[in-house]
Amino acid sequence: MNNLAIIGLATMGKNLAKNFASKGKQVAVFNRTYLRTEELISEQVIGIIGYQELSECIKSLEIPRVVVVLVKAGEAVDHTIEQLLPLLSANDTIIEMGNSHFRDTLARQTLCKKNNIYLIGCGISGGEEGALYGPSLMPSGDKTAMSHILPLLELIAAKDFNGNPCVTNLGAEGSGHFVKMIHNGIEYAMMQGIAEVYDMMRFLGIEHEDQVEFFNTANSGSTTSYLLEITTKVLKRMEQGIPFIDQIVDVAGSKGTGKWTVQTALELDVAIPTISAALMARMMSSRAQALKPLVIDLEHEIESIHPTLFTQQFVTSTLHGIFVTSYLQGLEIILAANKQYDWNIDLKEVLRIWQGGCIIRSQVLTELNGIFDSPVALQNLYTDTLEEISSAVRVLASLSGDMPRPIVHASYDYVVALLSETLPTNFIQGLRDYFGAHGFELKDKPGSYTGGWYPGRPMTKME
Ligand code: 6PG
Repeated sequence: MNNLAIIGLATMGKNLAKNFASKGKQVAVFNRTYLRTEELISEQVIGIIGYQELSECIKSLEIPRVVVVLVKAGEAVDHTIEQLLPLLSANDTIIEMGNSHFRDTLARQTLCKKNNIYLIGCGISGGEEGALYGPSLMPSGDKTAMSHILPLLELIAAKDFNGNPCVTNLGAEGSGHFVKMIHNGIEYAMMQGIAEVYDMMRFLGIEHEDQVEFFNTANSGSTTSYLLEITTKVLKRMEQGIPFIDQIVDVAGSKGTGKWTVQTALELDVAIPTISAALMARMMSSRAQALKPLVIDLEHEIESIHPTLFTQQFVTSTLHGIFVTSYLQGLEIILAANKQYDWNIDLKEVLRIWQGGCIIRSQVLTELNGIFDSPVALQNLYTDTLEEISSAVRVLASLSGDMPRPIVHASYDYVVALLSETLPTNFIQGLRDYFGAHGFELKDKPGSYTGGWYPGRPMTKME
């Protein structure tokens, strides 16, 4: 009998099947179009058995059945689940690994529960290589099903810095896909940070080999990270004597998870300027492309920068500061979700399972362990980050010429606002109360007050 089934044999599904098979599992595979299944069968991987009919594939499984669904997020997932339900029996488990919205997962769990089937929503990160050699896995759902499938997921997961599998039970409902969504929001921000540092280098006319060297060296110590590792590789690629990156159109695509992160943060009243700036930068790139006929030649006077300002220390600490603010904002959303949805996502576990396999893995994660448990440690982290980011802002200010630097500025605003003794929001309160009697609080009296702006209408305490 086969140990599990994988439905959906695009690159991720195919590689995940190979990963399971390499760990000694007998994997039944099925794809909507048989051609893909045939292609995989032709590779003759020991432990992978292809099926032309979904029903045959499911029949071949040991009981209780485990079916991994790795099809395109959205309608295809619903369609696959609909097809699976009549073929499954009570206590079987579907593990849905697409980049699904956590609310969709919730609805699918309800549907499956009605049919006595468990649905585990499982975020997966690491791209093609991760699926093959070890991804970071973010599952959530019913406890009974989880205890059954966790050992299976542990087999194929990447390893954290201590050699433990990068998978954990994130709790109930859609919290697994929620954490994956946050992962992607952070991914957007870290990438935008790298892109902005690259842009500064271009702007300053730093030689290509030196750009590579700056990034290569930045990928060490506390900023060692997968994204910086691949940054060097992407930058190094040459075609016909010029960097290939220069031939790529400057419009960033996206599949929606970054936007969901920002939407969710707004719903939960969490300020995430760094992550939002990264999303907006992608959106702006399409708009800018549409407005290309309006492009003007912006003056770039690069002489005004002191050459000693753009140092390795500057590059590394700017990236470090942006990475820290990106992670912190993602974690803040998870904290708010725990409160709002009555979840119990363990931040330490999240930071641990992101150490291996996933796109945002980096050494910075170790600095954040327990950060929200210790106000002093958090304050120190904000202070150090402020120093890093403000030096970036100062370097940018010393360059005459115009260039958008959304993430540097957003990260600076974030930490400086959090550390400021006063903000100008007292003025917002004054204006709101003046025109709409929305009330304000006073420094020396408890309660909320309104008024006192017009003669004969004194300030009064609000109920
Ligand atoms: C991962 C990635 C992956 C994501 C891509 C594309 O963790 O392996 O996050 O799941 O789909 O990075 O995302 P965008 O198209 O939105 O950039």
